[in-house]
Amino acid sequence: MTHWEDFYNTHLPPADFEDNRSLLKEFCERHNKLQNRIVLVTSGGTTVPLEHNTVRFVDNFSAGTRGSASAEYFLDHDYAVIFMHRHKSLEPFTRHFTGQQFFDMLDIADNSQSSTIAIKPDSVDVFAPVLAKYKIARETQMILYVNFTSVVDYMWLLRAACECLAAFEERAVLYLAAAVSDFYIPEDMMPTHKMQSGDGAPTISLQLVPKMLAPLASLWVPHAFVVSFKLETDESLLIVKARDSLNKYKHKLVIANVLQTRKHRVVFVTPTDSYELHLTREQTLQGLEIEEPIVADVVQKHGEFISNAQQRQ
Ligand code: PMT
Repeated sequence: MTHWEDFYNTHLPPADFEDNRSLLKEFCERHNKLQNRIVLVTSGGTTVPLEHNTVRFVDNFSAGTRGSASAEYFLDHDYAVIFMHRHKSLEPFTRHFTGQQFFDMLDIADNSQSSTIAIKPDSVDVFAPVLAKYKIARETQMILYVNFTSVVDYMWLLRAACECLAAFEERAVLYLAAAVSDFYIPEDMMPTHKMQSGDGAPTISLQLVPKMLAPLASLWVPHAFVVSFKLETDESLLIVKARDSLNKYKHKLVIANVLQTRKHRVVFVTPTDSYELHLTREQTLQGLEIEEPIVADVVQKHGEFISNAQQRQ
């Protein structure tokens, strides 16, 4: 595996990196002056390009549901939110009305002079509360959106965000819900142009991506409340792998989930404890989202973490 520093030395930052870095800096400085609590929510999957001029890539599974829903609940708890997401994955607020759903809520009224577009009366009850929350979050500048596509973009943004979050010390939460590639093709091993089928079936050799949780938890934001997610498809590995991760990176909490049941069951694994959060069938039918109790629990733990740190001072 490449060392994390070599990864940055051998992979250029994305073209919009400096713009995003300035946005992150400005957002963090403002909220730090206000003494706000802040959370970095990462969301969606990273890609691994197979060519420099990318036509084909390997993708990581994630719709961005966990991250986008969680960002809304952190706002409800008065956290400033950096929403770092995969370009075109689900976003807070708009996630409620995807695809045709939004168009189906609209009516066009025509008269000879002009056309008016309005929300259908029976959709107002659904649309208005979401729109109101969106407007408040934007007007109060409590949320910043930054996006990535490839695993390299993600790693550059992650480090830049951490550089800005370090000043918050215990007031920062890192909520790493994105599905991050473990394997990639280093830039110097990638063809420049589209691979040609005429050359026969390619043999693609992937290398290990360094685990960025290591420098993140020990060097970049050593005082922050770091929460990572662990995704498995084999239930029997779930708790063992979550505990391994805590032992290795010494962060505060792993939220473990199995691909098939992730929408209604997660396991919280802390250095001393592990317990399950789940939604009943009735709760799911009523529209409750598991991200609501997940975020409530994280916020409570973060509060205790801050109090303990204050008592030590
Ligand atoms: O978006 P949804 O469809 O709602 O799905 C949500 C989810 C299943 C993607 C989410 O709940 C989840 O589990 N996200 C983490 C997925 C993941 O990357 O798991 P992992 O076991 O591969 O990695 C564990 C941790 O290591 C992650 O927090 C990741 O940020 C970190 N990591 C991963 C790779 C890497 N090279 N460096 C890292 O630091």
